[in-house]
Amino acid sequence: MTEKLGIYRCNVCGNIVMVLNTGQGELVCCGQPMEFLRAGSVDASEEKHVPIIEKVEGGFKVKVGSVPHPMEEKHYIQWIVLQADGKSYIQFLKPGEAPEAFFCVEAEKVTAREYCNLHGLWESSKVCEPYKS
Ligand SMILES: [Fe+2]
Repeated sequence: MTEKLGIYRCNVCGNIVMVLNTGQGELVCCGQPMEFLRAGSVDASEEKHVPIIEKVEGGFKVKVGSVPHPMEEKHYIQWIVLQADGKSYIQFLKPGEAPEAFFCVEAEKVTAREYCNLHGLWESSKVCEPYKS
């Protein structure tokens, strides 16, 4: 059985899917089961991968991470998803861009997930106030 909003990857061709409706079947791609991605399950720098959610004027800013993640051709953050009170928003990123996204939404409960092409899926639900000097 799949997990609602679960993210699965084909380790042959690189397809990545998010489940919008769960079913009994197993997700298969390129002739083999897709891998269910668990946030933070890859051994890599937490500082560079765990999303930092900031409540800012007009919405939420999500940065990856407390130390900015590289945004190089071979190693970068591909997307950031914000789940906000039951709605999902996604920002795709490209190499050379900043590893962050702004989501123009007000919500009580948010979770941010990001995907690094080398180090997989990371997640946080902790909201920080932005640093003011
Ligand atoms: Fe990474």
